[in-house]
Amino acid sequence: MIWASGWRLASAVSNAGGLGIIGSGSMYPDVLREHIRKCQSATSRPFGVNVPLLYPDIDKHIQIIIEEGVKIVFTSAGNPKTWTTVLKDKGITVVHVVSSSKFARKAEEAGCDAVVAEGFEAGGHNGREETTTMVLIPAVVNAVKIPVIGAGGIATGRQMLAAMVMGAEGVQAGSLFVASEEASSHIAFKNKVIGSQEGDTALTMKQLTPVRLLRNKFYQQVQQAEWKGATPEELKALLGRARAKKGMFEGDLDEGELEIGQVSSLLDSILPAATIVKKLWSEFTEALRNPVKML
Ligand SMILES: Cc1cc2nc3c(=O)[nH]c(=O)nc-3n(C[C@H](O)[C@H](O)[C@H](O)COP(=O)(O)O)c2cc1C
Repeated sequence: MIWASGWRLASAVSNAGGLGIIGSGSMYPDVLREHIRKCQSATSRPFGVNVPLLYPDIDKHIQIIIEEGVKIVFTSAGNPKTWTTVLKDKGITVVHVVSSSKFARKAEEAGCDAVVAEGFEAGGHNGREETTTMVLIPAVVNAVKIPVIGAGGIATGRQMLAAMVMGAEGVQAGSLFVASEEASSHIAFKNKVIGSQEGDTALTMKQLTPVRLLRNKFYQQVQQAEWKGATPEELKALLGRARAKKGMFEGDLDEGELEIGQVSSLLDSILPAATIVKKLWSEFTEALRNPVKML
């Protein structure tokens, strides 16, 4: 996750038994190299790097990932065709994030090892079709033979079990870890996340790249511009550069872009990542013992 998952969060999640992922989308190439090296020193367990495929310096990121011996790459936001083969030729496991069964099939054709089926509830960039996790997981499971990881709206063990009952072989949680001690997000943003209520997030900027964020002053500006019929160029100008950094990393809660999922309304405290993983796992095993309420 941009501005949230650097080496501290990724290594803490991996050390706790999850698969921590470094979000390279907000990193310059040399910063990414530093985070990979620090993560390697902080954990002996597997971790991955997420690469948004539309990133301008993508070839440099891929080169660094290969040079530094990263074993797992999660790609997103783009066509997996070009880079999957390059990564797989180096023995790297490639997982691609999709928002529809059409894109899932394309990822399978491109040679990806698995897909993340990420539904409408999810924080950050999202699909235009607005397919919810509840509908997307079974659709993607039916569409491909490779393993499916469910994402979007998962913050408890019971939700994790539900995703797996629908055919997912694992889950990816994002927003849950924004509210962790190790996330590099600004404390003001973390506090805003844990204080948010149902309905406080919205999917916006569908003319550019749809993104789910908290409804703040910046969101209202985007809404007003859209109501007035703003062109994609005008929206791009409004978005400007570094909006996400301003909000999530620098803590400007009015002018910044505050990406988070619907599940933020279920979060009420900032915890160490290891506690979050442990809690998720114990809730999951408890839910397995008592999956449904019997009348
Ligand atoms: C602050 C934030 C930043 C994110 N950045 C990225 C990113 O750079 N690349 C990506 O593939 N997904 C990104 N995501 C999506 C997450 O990886 C994950 O799929 C999503 O958060 C799952 O849904 P949830 O928010 O309901 O847990 C981001 C999510 C959040 C909340």
